[in-house]
Amino acid sequence: MTTATAPGKIILFGEHSVVYGRPALAVPVNQVKAVCQIEAGRLGQGIEIIAQDLDQQFNLRNAPIDDPLAAVVRQTLATLALSATPDLVIKVTSTIPIARGLGSGAAISTAIVKALGEYFRQPFTPQVISEIAFEVEKIHHGTPSGIDNSVVAFGQPIFFQKGQTITQLKVHTPLTFVIGDTGIKSPTRQVVADLRARRARDVDLYEGYFDEMAAIVIQARDAIEGGRLRAIGKYMTENHAILDKIGVSSPELNQLVEAALQAKALGAKLSGAGWGGNMIALASAEEAQTVAQALNIAGAIHTIVTEVKPPVS
Ligand code: MEV
Repeated sequence: MTTATAPGKIILFGEHSVVYGRPALAVPVNQVKAVCQIEAGRLGQGIEIIAQDLDQQFNLRNAPIDDPLAAVVRQTLATLALSATPDLVIKVTSTIPIARGLGSGAAISTAIVKALGEYFRQPFTPQVISEIAFEVEKIHHGTPSGIDNSVVAFGQPIFFQKGQTITQLKVHTPLTFVIGDTGIKSPTRQVVADLRARRARDVDLYEGYFDEMAAIVIQARDAIEGGRLRAIGKYMTENHAILDKIGVSSPELNQLVEAALQAKALGAKLSGAGWGGNMIALASAEEAQTVAQALNIAGAIHTIVTEVKPPVS
């Protein structure tokens, strides 16, 4: 049996503006993960896909062209260029909440691509894994920027800009983030499409907001690479204010952001597509539990404390 895993993710800065070519920063979240296990199937059975957490079990032969799980398997097999369809059982499980901005779709795709590559002893590079997962992200999200598949496939903090080589975000000082889940679905495809329609009605206004977010991302990268925690926090809260202005926040997200700031978080913002899903707060390691408690009291259904560490040199 072959097993591969992929982490969840949070976007630290620049969601949405990243869809319009501006830079963004994202990190993996290793407390949650997708797992793919592959074993040989019965002769002639083809490929059976079992995804308990998604309530799905089917044979690849019978899957529609736009089924995301089937698409990732088909794309990967095409890349492997095997001489015949193998007989396999592919099991997928995930502890990443679905539609909460934590990259569940990208992680499931990544785990499957990785596991197939390893099963056939042709392990893929993170770049190839990311490219295959990106094709599937299009089925999930319509017009994805590619940041989710990139951070999940590379499994490290990244500076991302569409069409450019991904660069590592060199975290200087450990960063403790508290992630708070509103419990409300964040329908990425819809939030992105809705923003696109609003932007079309006033392009200059929205492009101005995206430029402001891009400036924050660049300053935030410097602050992260220089270990200036207070500045990072301040930029997060500023980024949230613009996300609220462009209409992708919600009363629930704003309430959690406010609660985190009241509990002395250094900064807080929504993370991912918005409307629901998760928010993140930067806290000192000592204050993280206090911030998590404040989020629970303010209505978070679940919190995760995660630490982003400097790269091992
Ligand atoms: C979703 O995690 C991030 C968005 O910026 C969409 C995208 O980048 O594709 C909202």
